[in-house]
Amino acid sequence: MNPIIIAQDLGKTYRSGKLEVPALRNVSFSVEPGEFVAIVGPSGSGKSTLFHILGGLTPATSGSVTIEGTDFSKLSDGERTKMRRARIGFVFQRFNLLPTLSAMGNIEIAHDIANLGASPKRPLDKSLLDHLTALLGIDGRLEHRPNELSGGEQQRVAIARALITRPSIVLADEPTGNLDTKNSDAVLNMLRTSSRELNQTVLMITHNPAAAQIADRILTMRDGQITGIETVQHA
Ligand SMILES: Nc1ncnc2c1ncn2[C@@H]1O[C@H](COP(=O)(O)OP(=O)(O)OP(=O)(O)O)[C@@H](O)[C@H]1O
Ligand SMILES: [Mg+2]
Repeated sequence: MNPIIIAQDLGKTYRSGKLEVPALRNVSFSVEPGEFVAIVGPSGSGKSTLFHILGGLTPATSGSVTIEGTDFSKLSDGERTKMRRARIGFVFQRFNLLPTLSAMGNIEIAHDIANLGASPKRPLDKSLLDHLTALLGIDGRLEHRPNELSGGEQQRVAIARALITRPSIVLADEPTGNLDTKNSDAVLNMLRTSSRELNQTVLMITHNPAAAQIADRILTMRDGQITGIETVQHA
């Protein structure tokens, strides 16, 4: 099988004025379709930076990202955006919900954006919506705006928003960071199940060692580099 994601020699240096912050160095790895990869490592080790590059949100300083056989750097900004919207579900570390829209509005707009330019437009998958919101326990909160939701509820809306488009790749940046054990387990099960059943490729950043154990592989980062790749043995 061909890898769905290939990161080759990625480097990223943030520049603000004269200050240079090296965030990634020589990062190379690949991910098979349907694989579930957990990414762990200390704060500041470059995990979110890696996700922003894989998702085409931030350009790398060096190296390349190939998604489903397409080299991101060879695409125009418009083409890269289109590919991201159609293929990638992003759960942001800080949620990034639109503040003026309700929870439902935030989920709907993700569907609408993924459908831009599609003809005929696919209708919102109501049964998937009901399934996701029930499993995430936000079905009673859909009319609320983000500032009327708890941090954990906002996080769960952000997860529903990422999954409603049935993306082939899910990049989830600490999706259980604000959740209690019950909701955290529900989210992890949901990601694990959709990876298995929909052959969805999931990359998940986590600080929780137990959460990382549900993945197929665990990738460890330190100081902007990959320092370990471990295959998880499942019973
Ligand atoms: N926009 C930016 N401008 C300058 N430096 C940045 C920027 N974003 C991140 N950095 C720096 O790059 C490094 C990696 O940051 P990143 O957010 O990728 O870490 P992380 O592993 O996701 O950490 P955490 O676990 O705390 O979320 C850090 O030193 C950070 O300060
Ligand atoms: Mg981060």
